[in-house]
Amino acid sequence: MEKEKKILYSGMQATGTLHLGNYLGALKNWVALSEEYDCIYGIMDLHSLTVRQDPTAFRQNARRFYTLYVAAGLDPEKNIVYYQSHVSAHAELAWILNCFTYMGELGRMTQYKDKSQKHADNVNAGLFTYPVLMAADILLYQADAVPVGADQKQHVEICRDIAQRFNGIYGDVFTIPEPFIAKAGAKVMSLAEPEKKMSKSDENPNATIFALDDKDTILRKFKRAVTDSETDVRFDPENKPGVSNLMTIYSCVTGKDMESISSEFSGKGYGDFKIAVGEAVADHLAPIQKRYDELTKEKAYIESCIKTNDEKAAYLANKTLRKVQKKVGLTERIR
Ligand code: TYM
Repeated sequence: MEKEKKILYSGMQATGTLHLGNYLGALKNWVALSEEYDCIYGIMDLHSLTVRQDPTAFRQNARRFYTLYVAAGLDPEKNIVYYQSHVSAHAELAWILNCFTYMGELGRMTQYKDKSQKHADNVNAGLFTYPVLMAADILLYQADAVPVGADQKQHVEICRDIAQRFNGIYGDVFTIPEPFIAKAGAKVMSLAEPEKKMSKSDENPNATIFALDDKDTILRKFKRAVTDSETDVRFDPENKPGVSNLMTIYSCVTGKDMESISSEFSGKGYGDFKIAVGEAVADHLAPIQKRYDELTKEKAYIESCIKTNDEKAAYLANKTLRKVQKKVGLTERIR
């Protein structure tokens, strides 16, 4: 039988706080695509364990991510919004897929190389097999499309390789997913060092805009954003990475194209431009922050969403897992 709508799957690690890169590179697009696809969005808390977490803060962060997903417009009654760790099929399929993934291909992953340098005292096996768990996430739900920022494209590609390898041996078990990378906002850069991507773990507090930053903080960070010694607002990522990043951000939140942004600020200099970007971002985030505040008071509602969605996700995931277990020859349960 033909599926009515295509399936879309994505998620974020539940570490730290959701930032503007996560929002523009992923969450904003998820919301935009949520009517067109059957969508499943995870709080990827198992992935977060590859870096040591404080248990209390970790639980709070995970809940904050869940609430922000909903506040930003993912409807938990239409989409499945759930916790990865609440569906044990992820870990079970990841184990099986580990046996279909080569050390060489995992060793080539850029994120693994970066993270193992950054956390040199904790290069654990989870960090190495991280993309296999991500492949399990996606393949369990037979996803057609995976909307992510540019930094996750390589992980979706290895997921495709693993799925194709598995299907090559056992027949068409998995749907082969396509990465879905937004045209603008797929790589939001740091405000302090615009050659580097915006990240939640940046040590410079002015480098990253967080989704829950208040207006004054947002304006202050944008005013301090590193630009260049010229004055013209022109899109040229190679030679003017700071200004181009601000233009991208402005474009994403206002819908204006680069040309009209250039002419809007022609002859005005960077000061006015930075304030306008800050204002536009703060105004864009304001309704999400307001809804977030309301939702934090609706504990029972959020908890009922988590429960129902965990169950829906587990049902779908277990269907694929049972199929895989049967294909590889694991003994079926006696009922
Ligand atoms: P994570 O938690 O690092 O990031 C979540 C999403 O935000 C995007 N992103 C950015 N986009 C634009 N500019 C930036 N500066 C920026 N920083 C982050 C990421 O590309 C991502 O889309 N491995 C994933 C989580 C994951 C997942 C999955 C995603 C686990 N399983 C299955 C999709 C499908 C990660 O660490 O994303």
